[in-house]
This record gives sequence, structure tokens and C-alpha cells, in this order.
Amino acid sequence: MQNQIENTTGSLFGELWKDLSSEQFRDSVELFTKRAIANNFDLDWLKGKTCLDAGCGSGRYSVALAIHGAAKITAVDVSSTGLETARNNAQEFNQIQFQQASVLNLPFPDQSFDLVWCAGVLHHTDNFDKGLSELTRVLKPNGKLFLLVYGAGGLRWKVIKAARPIVADLGQTFIDRAIQQSGLPANNRKNYMDDLFVPVQELTRFTELNQKLIDLGYSSIDRWTENTFDHENSPKDQLSDMLKLGEIAESAQSLATTKSETYHTELLKRTADMYINLIQEALSDPNLTSEQLKDITIGEGNLRLIATK
Ligand SMILES: C[S@@+](CC[C@H](N)C(=O)[O-])C[C@H]1O[C@@H](n2cnc3c(N)ncnc32)[C@H](O)[C@@H]1O
Repeated sequence: MQNQIENTTGSLFGELWKDLSSEQFRDSVELFTKRAIANNFDLDWLKGKTCLDAGCGSGRYSVALAIHGAAKITAVDVSSTGLETARNNAQEFNQIQFQQASVLNLPFPDQSFDLVWCAGVLHHTDNFDKGLSELTRVLKPNGKLFLLVYGAGGLRWKVIKAARPIVADLGQTFIDRAIQQSGLPANNRKNYMDDLFVPVQELTRFTELNQKLIDLGYSSIDRWTENTFDHENSPKDQLSDMLKLGEIAESAQSLATTKSETYHTELLKRTADMYINLIQEALSDPNLTSEQLKDITIGEGNLRLIATK
């Protein structure tokens, strides 16, 4: 039985994966290889391994693990619609098996997998620690856990968290129309609809996560800090991404028909502009070192790490 948060989160994502084109899916698979190489992860280690892709979404990481020689991949997600899309994306790979399940209650015996891959999931659950202990339970001794969770700091989460109550009043359908009208590609629509409407969005500091992993008995914790190949790669990339929120707000303004929509979309635009202006100011501030600029604009960004049990 899934809880209400799992159902709402699963339905939101399930709808968003459907629209990714096959080219966008292929690009998202390639990101795995690019990031692994940039962070000196030995891709050969994957050969013959038994893997769990926990919260598989579109199935992109399951496919990437299969391409790099994993022998068996079990992919789970709470979203039945998402799993349908993932099955479709992974048709060619019979070493991938999909199953509906929650990371909070994994239907597998202890020590089942050599690799547990969990990207972008724990911060959307209502029990981060339970999820982390479940992932650890099903991992074999000496197995590896890959995690991506939202880190703290930076400006992106601040503007998103400021925008969330405004867009909640405008409604998901209204904002989705605004995004579609703005002409942003489907992967941007996915990211913004996720950020603006997902029920749970928890940020974790690296030091806190590191301590949790040590407490769970992990021996080596290797944080991936190199090129992210996305909006967190540089403060300028962060600005380009935030400008898209400005475009969404403008598009929403043009759709407003009631007084309430007019005022709320105006508030959304002013909120986005305030953050956009601040990033622009920071980018042209000669007194900031590049480290300070990164800390102010991006903060910790997404925390990616591989921990060995
Ligand atoms: C941001 S997406 C990440 C998908 C995939 N890991 C990736 O990186 O492309 C989050 C995914 O986690 C799934 N999810 C959310 N809560 C979950 C839970 N408790 N158990 C399993 N999956 C969950 C959502 O349905 C969604 O597909």
C-alpha cells in the first residue's frame, strides 16, 4: 500500500516522463557516462553486477547500467505510469526488470545487490532516513551505493521555495499551460513542474549526509564534484536556468484572466526577477572570488556520491 505522498509524487512524475522525446531520453542516458568519467568512476566495475535502480523514473539509469555491462538490473518506482514509460524506453534490454515498489519498503531480502543506484528520490519521500536504511539493507557487503540528493544553499532552491506557495494558488494546470505556452523543451517542463509541485522537497547538507552514511557503516564516501553537465555547472548556467522561471512567469501573466491570476502571476514574475537580478549582480561583482560566487549562486547543488558498504 502506497501512502498519499507516494501516490501524488508518482502521478506527477509519471505524467512528466511521457513527454520526453527519444532524443532527450538518449541524452539523459549519456549523462550517466559523462558524469561517471568526469568523476573517475571505473565503469568496468559494473560488468556482471546485480543492480537496483531505486526510483527509476524514465529508466535512463537502468538503461545506462545495462549498456555498461550490468548483468541484472531491478528497477523500481512508485509510479505505475512512469514504469510503463520506462518499460517502453528499455525494450531492448531484457536484463532490466521493472517492478512497482517504494524505497521506503523494498520487497527484497537483505544483501541482494552489488550496486544500489538511487538518484533524485529520497528527498521526495516523507522518511529520508528510512529510505536510506532500506537502500543499505538490500546492499551486499562491499557493495556500492550511488546517491543523488538535493544539497543546501544557493539561490535556486530559495526562489523555488518562494514560488511554490504562489504557483499552488494558481494551480498545477494553469502553470503547466504557461510552461507549455512558453515553448520550453519537455525536459525543462519536467524539472520545473517537479520543483514547483512535488509534495516533499528536502534539502540535506553534505556534512549531515556524510555522517548518516558513516553511522550506517559505509567505509568510503566519494563525492562527485566534477562537471555536472547541467544548470549547476557554473553560476552562468544557473542564471540561464533561472531566466526560464522568468519566462514561465511571463507566460503565466499572459494567460491570467481573473484578478487573482493577474496579481499572483505578477508576484511570481517579481519574485523570479528579484533572484535573476541578484545572480546578475553577483556575476558582475568584481569583489567575489569564483568560490564565493559559486557558493552564493549554486551552493552545494545536487549531492552526488558513491559510498562503499
Ligand atoms: C526526480 S525523479 C528521478 C528518476 C530517476 N532516478 C532519474 O534520475 O532519472 C524521482 C522519481 O522517484 C520516484 N519516487 C518518488 N518517491 C518514491 C518512493 N518512495 N519510492 C520509489 N520511487 C519514488 C518518482 O516517481 C520519480 O520517478
